[in-house]
Amino acid sequence: MEKLNQLYEGKAKKVYSTNDDNYVIVSYKDDATAFNGEKKGTILGKGVINNRLTNHFMKMLEENNIPTHFVKEISDRETIVKKVEIIPLEVIVRNTAAGSFSKRYGVEEGTILNQPSLEFSLKNDDLGDPLINTYHVLSIGIATQKEIDTIEEYALKINSLLKEYLLKFNVELIDFKLEFGKTSDNTIVLADEISPDTCRFWDVDTHEKLDKDRFRRNLGNEEHAYQEMLKRIIGE
Ligand code: TMP
Ligand code: ASP
Repeated sequence: MEKLNQLYEGKAKKVYSTNDDNYVIVSYKDDATAFNGEKKGTILGKGVINNRLTNHFMKMLEENNIPTHFVKEISDRETIVKKVEIIPLEVIVRNTAAGSFSKRYGVEEGTILNQPSLEFSLKNDDLGDPLINTYHVLSIGIATQKEIDTIEEYALKINSLLKEYLLKFNVELIDFKLEFGKTSDNTIVLADEISPDTCRFWDVDTHEKLDKDRFRRNLGNEEHAYQEMLKRIIGE
């Protein structure tokens, strides 16, 4: 497959067209942003690590009957994926209180939740990705009830699978953000990425943060955290 024109550049990835209209190529960048792009920086090697970890997790999920956009890794930073129309929702699943959940509801960071929590944000940088409920989603016409049901079912199943998988590597899955897309035949598939940019990963014993919170909160050692995740999960 041939890489053609750049279609889109996001904060962490670029997307290119190919000579086959059903597929695009994503290219992961080392650029890091936080707080809706207000804080900018670089995490050296992040693009390579996020590409490899995302593909590794997506393959594991596919083996467990979660449809994803993943097709083939073609280089350190680049992967062929199915072309989808992204549903503009950030689907956030949480097992332990942290981040905006702790702040919003006054629940101390690190509190284990009674059951997984799921929330949607509207994916819109100009509006600051506001929280949105399913009535709003239906009223605006962002997705149908059936699509919402499918997304929720997949998101919770992904949480169980990923949580259990990561525990084998002594990593606790605190929370994460997913995005889903629709292929040309309207099938809903998991899209975007699953990486230390989009998940909170804590060491089970020490609660050391192995994710982008190191950058968001100026904790330092972010390169090490990403490398540690790659080493634990893929062994390099
Ligand atoms: P939050 O606690 O800041 O709402 O973040 C919840 C999870 O979502 C956390 O794992 C980080 C991830 N996330 C993103 O992937 N992109 C974003 O823009 C934000 C705000 C959070
Ligand atoms: N990626 C988001 C941004 O740049 C925020 C985040 O991951 O915290 O704004």
